[in-house]
Amino acid sequence: MRKLVIVSLGIAALVACGGSESAPEPVAEAPQKMEEAKPMEEAPAEEPAAAAEPVAAELSPEEAAKAQLELGKNVYETGGTGGVACQTCHMANGQGVPGAFPPLAGAGEAMGDCTTHAGYVIKGLTGEIEVLGQKYNGAMPAQGNLSDVEIAAVISYERTSWGNDYGACTAEQVAAAR
Ligand code: HEC
Repeated sequence: MRKLVIVSLGIAALVACGGSESAPEPVAEAPQKMEEAKPMEEAPAEEPAAAAEPVAAELSPEEAAKAQLELGKNVYETGGTGGVACQTCHMANGQGVPGAFPPLAGAGEAMGDCTTHAGYVIKGLTGEIEVLGQKYNGAMPAQGNLSDVEIAAVISYERTSWGNDYGACTAEQVAAAR
């Protein structure tokens, strides 16, 4: 009887060991998969909703115009992303430097329409021109690195500052000059 008990206990132990060796594996895998899956499912669901709201809604036409002029002033004074600050040559008050850099204040026809004006920024400008009765023959650097939005903003700023009242320009008008 004893031998039988020992043998059957031994078998029971073997079965138990065999069972316990394979059992932990699936248990250990399951929580890992759960953790991996969660953040991947949650992230994309939230981002588009958060990004879409401020662009689509909020800005009134007045606020959009104000924001454009603020960006334009910044590009005029700093050169924006990859341009040369316009005020370096045309001065902070748009008066230019007589004989060297033409004025923007009161320049009227010399500025051209929005697309012509944008073209000066994108392609640069050389050759003799006359602005407010004075001749200039210099070279304005091309600044095509600036985005359509930045160029629309900076020329809108010029066209509506220092007493100028020539109207704002859009990024679409700038794109037409490229
Ligand atoms: C390095 C100096 C320099 C910088 C920087 C510069 N310009 Fe000019 N700009 C000139 C010169 C010089 C001319 C005249 C070119 C010629 O004689 O043909 C000119 C001409 C112009 C004209 C046409 C003439 C007029 O006075 O209306 C406009 C408009 C103009 N620039 C706008 C800009 C804007 C916008 C920026 C900034 C994005 C800028 N410029 C940056 C030198 C510069």
